[in-house]
Amino acid sequence: MQTLTAPTAAVAEDIGNIVSLEHVNVRIDDQSRATLFYIVGLGFTRDPYMNVGLNNMWVNIGDQQFHLPTGTPQVLRGHTGLVVPDLAELKERLASIADQLSGTKFSWADRGEYVEAVSPWGNVYHCYASGKFGSMKLGVPYVELSVPVGSAAAIQRFYAEVFEAPGTVEDGVARVEIGARQTLVFRESKRVPKYDGHHIAIYIANFSGPYDYLSEHKLITEDIRNHQFRFQDIVDPQTGKPVFTLEHEVRSSRHPGFRRALVNRHTSDWQ
Ligand SMILES: [Fe+2]
Repeated sequence: MQTLTAPTAAVAEDIGNIVSLEHVNVRIDDQSRATLFYIVGLGFTRDPYMNVGLNNMWVNIGDQQFHLPTGTPQVLRGHTGLVVPDLAELKERLASIADQLSGTKFSWADRGEYVEAVSPWGNVYHCYASGKFGSMKLGVPYVELSVPVGSAAAIQRFYAEVFEAPGTVEDGVARVEIGARQTLVFRESKRVPKYDGHHIAIYIANFSGPYDYLSEHKLITEDIRNHQFRFQDIVDPQTGKPVFTLEHEVRSSRHPGFRRALVNRHTSDWQ
């Protein structure tokens, strides 16, 4: 059989099977404080169509979201990268909510290239000005997880084998490509907190391939319903051993949320 080799320029346009990372879900215990931090402070937009009560809030950031159900607070093991339109305006907004969030874990600091903002429950966000991540003007360019020492290569193998996601491993850091402009980063660390049940949601193009692999390896934690399934354990494909836990809500492009238009206000217009 003849094998065709695509030119490098063509290969560079390829993406893997994970089309996008849509939301990060962490429970919080106070919707008023969440409004102050995510809407007033970070400047994002509450989804006006879904979960508008007190038991959950969806927060739009460009084409991505945070899901914030009310409950025992959860903290992502690592941090989430964000792109915001203007860092100076962000700093003004964060300063404006400091008094109201005193006594919580809220803090913020100018780290030069980015502004670090910590939620009232300890979730860490690195906020970059638009321009740092290609054409993204507002959104979530990456999620970075702290993973056990020695696990990065196995994690990269997992996403490559199960999700056909391009990735690299260098100096204990695995980078897994999500679509054309997002990344899942796994950075080895000596301090990996206990997993508390937070999750991420991804969309994939080929749904049955990953489902079959994860099903065969008994890794599905919630079977298919509403065009999605869930798994938690990332395993080394070479040994089958779990190396890191992070619940993934895995959706097909037939899920009603796929490419749903998200409302995003323009904070600069009225401040
Ligand atoms: Fe979710």
